[in-house]
Amino acid sequence: MDSPFDEPGKIFADKRPLDEDYTPETILCREDEVSRYSEALQDVIEGFGPNNVFIYGQTGNGKTVVTKKMMQFLRAEAAQHDVPVTILEINCNKDDSIFSVLISLVNQLRPPDDQVPEQGPTKGFLWSTLYDELDDLEGDVVVVLDEIDMLGADNDKLLYEFPRARKMGSLEDTRVGVIGISNNHMFKDSLDPRVKSTLCEYEIFFSPYDATELTDILQHYGDLVFRDGIIDEGVIQLCAARAAQEQGDAREALDLLETAGNIARKHDAGQVTKAHVEEAGSRVEEQRVLTIVREQLTSQMKLALLATAFLNIDDEASPRAKNIYQVYENICEVCGYEPRSKRRVNDFLDSIRLYGLLERDERNLGRAGGRSYIHTLEVSPELVFEGLKQDQDGSESTLERYDLVPDPDEAQQARLMSYV
Ligand SMILES: Nc1ncnc2c1ncn2[C@@H]1O[C@H](COP(=O)(O)OP(=O)(O)OP(=O)(O)O)[C@@H](O)[C@H]1O
Ligand SMILES: [Mg+2]
Repeated sequence: MDSPFDEPGKIFADKRPLDEDYTPETILCREDEVSRYSEALQDVIEGFGPNNVFIYGQTGNGKTVVTKKMMQFLRAEAAQHDVPVTILEINCNKDDSIFSVLISLVNQLRPPDDQVPEQGPTKGFLWSTLYDELDDLEGDVVVVLDEIDMLGADNDKLLYEFPRARKMGSLEDTRVGVIGISNNHMFKDSLDPRVKSTLCEYEIFFSPYDATELTDILQHYGDLVFRDGIIDEGVIQLCAARAAQEQGDAREALDLLETAGNIARKHDAGQVTKAHVEEAGSRVEEQRVLTIVREQLTSQMKLALLATAFLNIDDEASPRAKNIYQVYENICEVCGYEPRSKRRVNDFLDSIRLYGLLERDERNLGRAGGRSYIHTLEVSPELVFEGLKQDQDGSESTLERYDLVPDPDEAQQARLMSYV
């Protein structure tokens, strides 16, 4: 058998710039945000103590990458001016409880042979150890909490008392500034008012990128990642336009360009063309839907989605809220879930709609029918079924175990009607 692999190095020169933890040499298209960021942090390099900063905006809008770059500059400037500053960076998606955040903070301040263990210490012990370590430092401390919305609700102490530790007497000399980053627009409103006013001393909003900005960003990465001359004319612009139409997300735009490159490589093509981008678009979209269904919807939302999908593929049925609820109840009964109230199920449908999988129309169904909401699938039912067959970890889902998810090529109609 000949080797199944393709000849290396034909399309890509270096994929490292596409890694999630890559920090680019330059930040593009974020002049206003960088300027505001430096205004908020200028006090640190002048030795006046750090401010608290809250960074927000949708996914892929450069919040993490700009922050990493700002911290690089802050370290360098502070060193140049002999101002001692310690910067601690935490991703709360990884350290998703106050407990893990405390362990990570303490361990970043301690030498490798004197780390606190992950099991055993109490929160009280960790707080006092953290304050001891901080008091031993020379100069101020900036703590970056990326994806801060992943922390549970008991974040008051970390986001209110901690930045005020010196004022409250928990720290002698060291001043602490917190930079919180979130892509969840509800996070700020969910904060206790005291916490909100402390954390949001400076607020910086990152808006979605437009097509021109995405073109600049893609061009920059394209030059680093692809071999010279391999990207056909219009490819970058097409990726940028597609991503701008969606959410203005640079990660999505880069993902599209990389997938187009992978497809070109697979086809042993001499260039990455617009046709490869089109194919990549369908693949990326499929992956997006599968990820939402498998990883972001709760079990109850999945039941509501399955009921909606049934009624969407059956021409004879109407996917109105009332019918969806009936099918949902039947599904619950088959697989032993406790059915929630009609109102809750409508909330589930609203959430699914916010993920872009459904659209809702209000219809007047005449005197007998009254008003009703019709829920139409915005993505293919086959894709929804494929997503519902597996759980996040790739194992068989409960719905699949109870044989409730139809195969796309089966004669579904008769089978589905029995649930209505
Ligand atoms: N202005 C920019 N200049 C250079 N690269 C960028 C820029 N904006 C985004 N990127 C690249 O796009 C990707 C996504 O950006 P980033 O991780 O900063 O998004 P984010 O706003 O933190 O998203 P999330 O809310 O999902 O965490 C990264 O790989 C980053 O390198
Ligand atoms: Mg981020």
